[in-house]
Amino acid sequence: MEVILAEHAGFCFGVKKAVDTVYEQVEHNDNKIYTYGPIIHNEEVVKDLESKGVEVVNSPEELSNVSDDGTIVIRAHGIPRETEEKIKNRGISYVDATCPFVKRIHKIVDEESRKGRTIIITGNAKHPEVEGIVSWADGPVYVIESLEDAEKFTLPVETELTLVSQTTFNYKKFKDVVEIFNSKGYNINIVNTICNATQERQTEAEKIAAEADAMIVIGGTTSSNTRKLYEICAAKCKHTYFVQTVDDLPKDFPEGIYKVGITAGASTPKNIIEEVQTYVRTGTDI
Ligand code: F3S
Repeated sequence: MEVILAEHAGFCFGVKKAVDTVYEQVEHNDNKIYTYGPIIHNEEVVKDLESKGVEVVNSPEELSNVSDDGTIVIRAHGIPRETEEKIKNRGISYVDATCPFVKRIHKIVDEESRKGRTIIITGNAKHPEVEGIVSWADGPVYVIESLEDAEKFTLPVETELTLVSQTTFNYKKFKDVVEIFNSKGYNINIVNTICNATQERQTEAEKIAAEADAMIVIGGTTSSNTRKLYEICAAKCKHTYFVQTVDDLPKDFPEGIYKVGITAGASTPKNIIEEVQTYVRTGTDI
């Protein structure tokens, strides 16, 4: 079987940094280590950390279960401002592993809303990254998930807007939303905060999916960037598989599959990508 492996597959800069931070803490910090939220959206990584004694804090309420001498590592896509305040107020030590690109959005939203501008965020309102971004607005803030939401958006035309995006938002959809807002005649400050890592992965995956007979997208089911990669690939290649590990692959591919493309979300570890690749090339596990 011929395999085309995407060059930009697996851990992005921010995820690698966050995961490395937790492993460093496990190794060098004698305190009990916690992560606020799963450190990344990948069950395999979270399970491995659990086996090393790392506990996940899932909500502000659960902060009361954290021991006074514990250390919390904040996940790659950030937490709401109020939650960070709570951690500080409890006096627990913490290491902020929020990706710098997400931090940049917090800063923009904070500064722009303090200037009195209304904040628009393109993204999924329920995603923890977006919940975090929303929390930095000091005034009105709206989340636009679809072109329909953008079409329906009505505020007086003199309202000054600043538009940012969830880092993993689809670039084409972002441009379409911008066009809709521009056509409504708003004074709008547009800051494209979509992460390059996402764009690179999406463009490359689409290209590979168009020439492959089958396409495999590897990542956690809760990873929004992996899900988007899957959607992009499925639109180009009818035999597209979403797998978390090699165990989710079909025993046999349908007839006529000779070339298989492989890509992976930004939170997929290298060893899982290698296992899938070896299995597809040779038909055996590592
Ligand atoms: Fe950061 Fe981009 Fe990854 S925002 S966490 S480098 S996808």
